[in-house]
Amino acid sequence: MPSAAAVHGPSAIADVARAFHELVQKASLIRELESSSRRLAALSARVTQAQEEDRARIARELHDGLGQALTAVKMDLSAAGRQLGPEATATRRRVVDARKLIDESLEELRRLVFDLRPPALDTLGLAAALEAYGREWQERTGVTVTVEAERFEPRLPFEVETALYRICQEALANAAKHAQASRATIRVAREEDRVGVVVEDDGVGFDVAASTESENGPVGVGLLSMERRAADLGGVFHIESAPGRGTTVRVSVPLHREGQ
Ligand SMILES: Nc1ncnc2c1ncn2[C@@H]1O[C@H](COP(=O)(O)OP(=O)(O)OP(=O)(O)O)[C@@H](O)[C@H]1O
Ligand SMILES: [Mg+2]
Repeated sequence: MPSAAAVHGPSAIADVARAFHELVQKASLIRELESSSRRLAALSARVTQAQEEDRARIARELHDGLGQALTAVKMDLSAAGRQLGPEATATRRRVVDARKLIDESLEELRRLVFDLRPPALDTLGLAAALEAYGREWQERTGVTVTVEAERFEPRLPFEVETALYRICQEALANAAKHAQASRATIRVAREEDRVGVVVEDDGVGFDVAASTESENGPVGVGLLSMERRAADLGGVFHIESAPGRGTTVRVSVPLHREGQ
C-alpha cells in the first residue's frame, strides 16, 4: 500500500501536522481559560462572602457601640432636664432640642444598620427578613408589595439566606427605580431539593438583551450581581421582561451542594 506521503506528498503531511498542533494548542488554551474562569468565580464568591461578613460586623458595632452610647446620652439628658428649676426655661429648651437630635440620629443609625445587615436575617431568618424589608420598601415607594415566603426548617445556610435576600433587594430596587410599577410580589418556595425565588412587578418592562449590554458593556451592576450570587450557590438566574409587560426575576438554587 502506498504511504500517505507518497499519495499526498510531504507538504500535505506538514499541513496535517500543523493543523493538529493548532488543535492541541487551542484545547490547552480552552483548558486554561476554563481553569481561570473557575478561579475567578471562586474568588468572586469569597469576596462576596467577606463583604457580607464585614457588613454584619460593622452593623453589630454600630448598633452595640454608637447606638448604646447615644441611648445612654439621651437618658443622661433626661435626668439632667428633670433637675432643672422652673426658671431654667432656655436650658430646658436646649435639652429638649438635644434629645430630639439624638432621636433623629438613632433613627438614621437604625436605617443604616438595617441596610448593612437586617437584624431579622440573623435572628428570625429569610422569610421574616423579607417581610420586614417588603413593609419598609412599600412605605418608602408607595408601591404595594406582597411577600409569600416559606419558612425553612432547619433554616437555610447563612450564605443562601444572604444571597437570596440581596437578590430580592436588588430586584425590588430595580422595580422602584425603573418599572413605575403599581404592584410587586416576592415568592420564596421549596421546589423538591431546590429553593425557588420569584420577584415580579407589573411595571413598564424592558428589552432585556438591549438594556443589559451597551457598547461599553453592561449598563448597571444589579442584574450581573444577581446572576453572580445565584451562580456562586450553584444556582441559576433568569429574567423575563418585555416593554409594557412587567418584569419577572427567577432564581433557583440547590438546597444541598455536593462536597459541602
Ligand atoms: N424591573 C425593571 N423594570 C424595568 N426596567 C428594568 C427593571 N430591572 C432592570 N431594568 C432595566 O435594566 C437595566 C439594568 O439593570 P441593572 O440593575 O443591572 O442596572 P441599574 O439598576 O441601572 O444600575 P445598578 O443596579 O447598578 O444601580 C436598567 O438600567 C433598566 O433599564
Ligand atoms: Mg439595579
